[in-house]
Amino acid sequence: MTPDPWRKAPLIAGNWKMHKTPAEARGLVRSLLGQLAAEPAAEVLLLPPFTALEAVVEELGGDTRVRVGAQNCHHEAAGAFTGEISAPMLAPLCDYVLVGHSERRHLMGESDNVVRRKLDAVLVAGLLPVLAVGETAAERSAGVTEAVVERQARAGLEGLAIGEIGRCTVAYEPVWAIGTGATATPDDAAAAAAVIHRVVAELSSGEVEVRVLYGGSVTPANAASLLSAPGVRGALVGGASLRADEFAGIVAAAG
Ligand code: 13P
Repeated sequence: MTPDPWRKAPLIAGNWKMHKTPAEARGLVRSLLGQLAAEPAAEVLLLPPFTALEAVVEELGGDTRVRVGAQNCHHEAAGAFTGEISAPMLAPLCDYVLVGHSERRHLMGESDNVVRRKLDAVLVAGLLPVLAVGETAAERSAGVTEAVVERQARAGLEGLAIGEIGRCTVAYEPVWAIGTGATATPDDAAAAAAVIHRVVAELSSGEVEVRVLYGGSVTPANAASLLSAPGVRGALVGGASLRADEFAGIVAAAG
């Protein structure tokens, strides 16, 4: 039996997207460390831009309350890929790498296949993937939310060894809820989480479960209800992670 992350603490991840210089990142980390509980009930993860990773790691100074990840990587380990960053380059700085965020899928044209190659590269580098999935507004209107979530989860995880699936986290982020102030209801989040758990159970013959996060306009005010949705074990936070008080409030809501 592989380790079962589902039974571990909830994961609260802050995706800073394209925000924060290294100096600004240091300030945010300092402020956050001052506002987190001495022993948060959640695992806390920061996903700064590549250029601030080293500053964040330095500023954390080994504080075990907070882990660090990257927002993306290239699927090859090295080569002539101008402007790209590989998983082995991230390994000295990070524990986690986010793959398949909807802004990568929809603004940068990343297919399920490319996302999967990135996830494989993250695993090969010894890092922990966070696979983001979620439907667009049009897909939701067309009634294919669960089919999209299932397709993206399956494309990301099918064929992995059971132990590899156990190292993954899956974030359900409905695209229409990202940065819009509109959130899915806890029932919506639970329905998507159920699809992901079913896919994982099938692909791992019931051997492992993964943590499923909800993302999309999470705030300190709505975090507790979203985090209590059945099958949801954490949050992937965008805008509110850029403010130490708000992000710390979301971490506290996970306790
Ligand atoms: P917001 O929390 O700003 O809606 O962003 C969510 C997100 O995309 C996190 O990855």
